[in-house]
Amino acid sequence: MATLQHALLFLASISPVISVPAENAPSKYIISLKSDATTDIESHLSWVTDVHRRSLSRRDTAGVERTFSIGSNFNAYTGEFDSETIAQIKENLNVAFVEVDVEQLVTTALVTQTDAPWGIASLSTPSLPNGNILGQKYVYDESAGGGTWAYVLDTGIFVNNTEFEGRAIKGYNAWPEDTFDDKYGHGSHVAGTIGSKTYGVAKKTTIVDVKVVRGTDGYSTIAKVLEGLDWIVKNITNTPGRAEKSVVSVSLAYAKSDVLNAGFEAAYAAGVLSVVGAANDNEDASTKSPASEPSVITVGAVDWQKTRAEWSNFGPLVDIFAPGVEIVSLWNKDDFPTTLSGTSMSTPHVSGLVLYLRGKESLLTPDDARDRLLALAQKGVVVNEGVGSPNFLAYHGAGA
Ligand SMILES: *[C@@H]1O[C@H](CO)[C@@H](O)[C@H](O)[C@H]1NC(C)=O
Ligand SMILES: *[C@@H]1O[C@H](CO)[C@@H](O)[C@H](O)[C@H]1NC(C)=O
Repeated sequence: MATLQHALLFLASISPVISVPAENAPSKYIISLKSDATTDIESHLSWVTDVHRRSLSRRDTAGVERTFSIGSNFNAYTGEFDSETIAQIKENLNVAFVEVDVEQLVTTALVTQTDAPWGIASLSTPSLPNGNILGQKYVYDESAGGGTWAYVLDTGIFVNNTEFEGRAIKGYNAWPEDTFDDKYGHGSHVAGTIGSKTYGVAKKTTIVDVKVVRGTDGYSTIAKVLEGLDWIVKNITNTPGRAEKSVVSVSLAYAKSDVLNAGFEAAYAAGVLSVVGAANDNEDASTKSPASEPSVITVGAVDWQKTRAEWSNFGPLVDIFAPGVEIVSLWNKDDFPTTLSGTSMSTPHVSGLVLYLRGKESLLTPDDARDRLLALAQKGVVVNEGVGSPNFLAYHGAGA
């Protein structure tokens, strides 16, 4: 019986999440006593000190460093011990847990923004008190998508906007005959929702401008989108560690195109995740590309009361809904907050959300990121989601 307990205790004391290379054997530990320990902490510590002193391999280890007690029956201590001493501590019947104590990245500090647009606010709380388009409360982890990359396929971005704080950079212009600026405003609005200081979901991400739409009229071709996507996939896959920290955000919709879909499928196969608008025709998303490509995350739009926008596409190819009605964000000049509606606006909410999650957690593959996004989503709350749509609403819940 005693042997069995020892065996269980030993298993419980090895943390499965921390793996330390053998040649680098850990020496810092945190140890807790059982709540029904048959000795007091002082007697236990004097026993530990004794064992440590007698250990032949104790050379460079300090022994007990500090003790803790919380409430009436939680006692613990930290210390630096050699393997011989720690083996004896693990055998001690009064010891509950022995864990290696290493520095870990823990990001739990929350930041609250009180002048937020309703869309980003709704990602952090289960329901909003009113439909004010600004002045809402957005709560987010302070990591805020730091270390992540948003590749925005659009009309260009006014990267000089102070709202981007220098985090928006020029990537590639598929229309060299047109200057590499946002003459329209659409791309700047999208990028603003992903990562600007006031309107953005992931306020520390880096935004890469990939201009595939020309001029002031929103004109482009499938070839130009594929050219931009090709540049993005090369840029990502030629940079070690970039894919798992990136998203391609695509607020563009073309008539169904097998070629365009195949291009996005190839990006996915290379480990590159794309988030795509379902488009605004109040019909099944199978009629549009790249919305109809199964490997991308396809996004429909809701209003602040979680009702699908009357124009949002729907159906089984949609993965998730997000805010897309009366969204305030940036335009192609400074100090010009602009309110727009569309799946162009719901898409960057999800792009920003995926970057927020990828900044905070290890979500290595496109499927890892999608699974996490869908696991966190609010389920069954979207009103009139449309025939065949999954009833999922984008959410991280940091302010719940
Ligand atoms: C952005 O700033 C750069 C550097 O100051 C400048 O060369 C460029 O013309 C600016 N672009 C726009 C669109 O204002
Ligand atoms: C990716 O694009 C950025 C921005 O244009 C550039 O600075 C960087 O060198 C590119 N990286 C690779 C590996 O091509």
